[in-house]
Amino acid sequence: MKLWGDGSETGEAVLDAFNASIGFDRALFREDIAGSIAHSRMLVKQGIISGEDAAAIENGLRQIEGEIEGGEFVFASEDEDIHMAIERRLTALIGEAGKRLHTARSRNDQVALDFRLWCVRQDRHLADLIAELVSALYGIALKHTETLMPGMTHLQHAQPISLAYHLLAYMAMLMRDHSRLLESAKRANLSPLGSAALAGTPHPIDRAFVADELGFDGVTLNGLDSVSDRDFALELLFNTAMAMMHLSRFCEELVLWSSAEFRFVRIGDRFTTGSSIMPQKRNPDAAELIRGKTGRVYGGLMGLLTVMKGMPLAYNKDMQEDKEGVFDAVKTLSDSLTILADMLQDEGTVFNREAMRAACERGHLSATDLADAAVKKGVPFREAHHLSRKATALADQKGVDLSMLKAEDLALIDPRLGELVGALSLEASMNARVSAGGTAKRAVLEQLSFVENWIKSVCSIKPS
Ligand code: ARG
Repeated sequence: MKLWGDGSETGEAVLDAFNASIGFDRALFREDIAGSIAHSRMLVKQGIISGEDAAAIENGLRQIEGEIEGGEFVFASEDEDIHMAIERRLTALIGEAGKRLHTARSRNDQVALDFRLWCVRQDRHLADLIAELVSALYGIALKHTETLMPGMTHLQHAQPISLAYHLLAYMAMLMRDHSRLLESAKRANLSPLGSAALAGTPHPIDRAFVADELGFDGVTLNGLDSVSDRDFALELLFNTAMAMMHLSRFCEELVLWSSAEFRFVRIGDRFTTGSSIMPQKRNPDAAELIRGKTGRVYGGLMGLLTVMKGMPLAYNKDMQEDKEGVFDAVKTLSDSLTILADMLQDEGTVFNREAMRAACERGHLSATDLADAAVKKGVPFREAHHLSRKATALADQKGVDLSMLKAEDLALIDPRLGELVGALSLEASMNARVSAGGTAKRAVLEQLSFVENWIKSVCSIKPS
């Protein structure tokens, strides 16, 4: 007799839903089916199941894959997770043989396999999208090697740089993100299948064969670790969080630059929205959302680190909590990369050369250059610094930028300064910094050619 009547039924439903992962792990169906096909081919090769059973299993699994892809697959209420859903359907389709598939396997190594395959694929997919964003930035930078803008520290005008130089900073970050993702993929690319529940299996399996069938580079070392290791998912999350941090910094700049205070960029209409009350508003929503969504990705990383930290070996049900944060982080970065590349390449997105140049004419950006030029003429540095300070004071007095002063103005301060007027030009200032990684057009073109070669090299090794 049920003590709580309907209430207890509701309780059971809540508990079943609480226990189940089918609501989200169905995203792993392709990996689950590929893993099962490889496993069944191994079982027949090793004489563990018959050729007829293996053929029936493979055909059945292909049919199920089609059903899920086509949206015809009916998930049953008792399907706790994707592994059980597929096995239930397989057994319904082919009978006895379906029940032999799980020989020498456990859901513990099965889920470890599926999730690893998925993460490796996403590591590579995200790396590809990052390479596409780098090439978008490269294309824009090529057009702006002479577009002056103020380089800043402390958000204060510091020295004149070019827009190309500024964009190259982001290309450098993204190229590191790319290499981190591919290194993680490489480290993760080992098959855990055959670890079974935690301790391996007495059946004469061939783990290397399965690994090879699935495109892994080899097999994991230890079963206990293999079923409870989620480092590969954490690396993917960290890499994703780092890349989002980079995108967020860039988007923050786009938000600032599109404001009336800066006017360095006009963002294409598709990526901005108006206000319901202020008709003139062009809110940079897409950039703000990329910046904002960085939070949920950090949350995913912190969430999974916390899930894993107190767990005794080996598999614990806690680990079912490993997936949603990773799925969400990958989708967030994937969408953000696509949208940002699209936004930058949109016809309506225009960098405002005049506004950037005008900004360079505020803040006496060439003060260091005047001092450096005086030093080159033999003036001791302390004195040169002092003279340059006097020149900026004179510019302030006249209400102009230092770069506007004439030779006569400088000569009034000190006769030696008159001939140094050329050092005040903003272009000269930018082009003077010829050191490797510097702002001079020559140095910027070298950096761009490095990026060009990088793009060619990553495109030619494009992983499948
Ligand atoms: N749904 C489970 C997960 O996502 C699959 C593994 C279940 N294994 C087990 N022994 N309960 O982690």
